[in-house]
Amino acid sequence: MKIVAINGSPRKNGNTALLLNAVRQEVEAAGVEFQIFQPGPNVHPCMACYHCLDTGSLRCVRNDDGVNDIIAACVEADGILLASPVYHAGIAGGMKCVIDRLMLAAGCGENQFRRKVGGALCTLRRSGGTETYHQLLAAMDCMEMVIVTSDYWGVVHGAEPGEVLKDAEGMEVAAKLGRNMAWMVKVLAESKVPAPESAPRPMMNFIR
Ligand SMILES: Cc1cc2nc3c(=O)[nH]c(=O)nc-3n(C[C@H](O)[C@H](O)[C@H](O)COP(=O)(O)O)c2cc1C
Repeated sequence: MKIVAINGSPRKNGNTALLLNAVRQEVEAAGVEFQIFQPGPNVHPCMACYHCLDTGSLRCVRNDDGVNDIIAACVEADGILLASPVYHAGIAGGMKCVIDRLMLAAGCGENQFRRKVGGALCTLRRSGGTETYHQLLAAMDCMEMVIVTSDYWGVVHGAEPGEVLKDAEGMEVAAKLGRNMAWMVKVLAESKVPAPESAPRPMMNFIR
């Protein structure tokens, strides 16, 4: 059983990295593997070529920035944790590029994320946290995923690297999210309840 986390910060050893290291301890203590990807600042945006959807390749044609490794790991994983710094009250640009390509390549065609566990966290100095947290969740809550929460929104405060560790409440919110995600991964793995069938949905288009 494995949870894959994506750190959308361009900054090495920044607050999001520190936060995910703390979540790692909780997840691994629960007996679930935890793999963190941090693609960094050189991620390409989605080019809207739709090659991934047209071919069902589960891969992006841009193959030079590590995003295909992230897509492959997420397809294999039992859970996905999206973590991003807040940039101007939203998801950091590089993280948005990853999410767009991940969800288009492996979610929008033959959905690979159905019944995977999902969670989200963001780091920030002051404002825009709940907006960003809900943006991260929004990428997953149309994928038939099992969204897991903590006992407060996944918003953890800190500006300079390391400051996030001083937000004791936020760190506990993140740790609890990790424990809950690991628990849900195990619940689903052991469940004998058959999942409902999933039928295709007619695409709405008012243009005739
Ligand atoms: C371009 C940019 C925009 C930012 N916008 C916000 C913002 O809107 N709200 C906020 O509270 N912090 C904002 N910040 C601060 C970061 O969210 C904060 O420093 C965060 O801890 C960075 O995480 P990291 O260390 O993992 O990169 C911004 C930082 C940058 C570089």
